[in-house]
Amino acid sequence: MHPDFWGDGYGTEIARALVRAAMEEMSMEGVYAKTILANARSQSVLKRNGFVEFDRGLRRVNDRWVDTVHFAITRERWLQIQDESKEAL
Ligand SMILES: CC(C)(COP(=O)(O)OP(=O)(O)OC[C@H]1O[C@@H](n2cnc3c(N)ncnc32)[C@H](O)[C@@H]1OP(=O)(O)O)[C@@H](O)C(=O)NCCC(=O)NCCS
Repeated sequence: MHPDFWGDGYGTEIARALVRAAMEEMSMEGVYAKTILANARSQSVLKRNGFVEFDRGLRRVNDRWVDTVHFAITRERWLQIQDESKEAL
């Protein structure tokens, strides 16, 4: 996304729509995402959408190793979050 549009909630909205499509239209059992540790913004987007960190690793980027963080949300967790947000309305 162009930096002019960072921090306005678009990333969160896009991630939410992608997870919804994965669960509702593709009937997936879960969604996995990976980001570099330094990308706090990406991690905020994932956590806000219910993703849970489950592992860390390393990835080769531009000839150097960088730390990575691995997230996932299961179908079960996603459904629970949908129920909770309906109850909160
Ligand atoms: C990552 C990306 C898609 C996020 O989209 P976005 O529209 O900026 O995200 P949102 O506005 O929905 O949310 C940003 C979150 O980061 C937080 N944030 C903003 N600036 C931050 C900073 N400097 N450090 C840490 N967190 C920051 C915001 O507070 C918000 O989290 P919060 O509401 O929990 O506090 C977008 O920034 C982007 O395209 N970045 C460049 C490419 C990239 O990193 N892609 C992902 C690779 S895994």
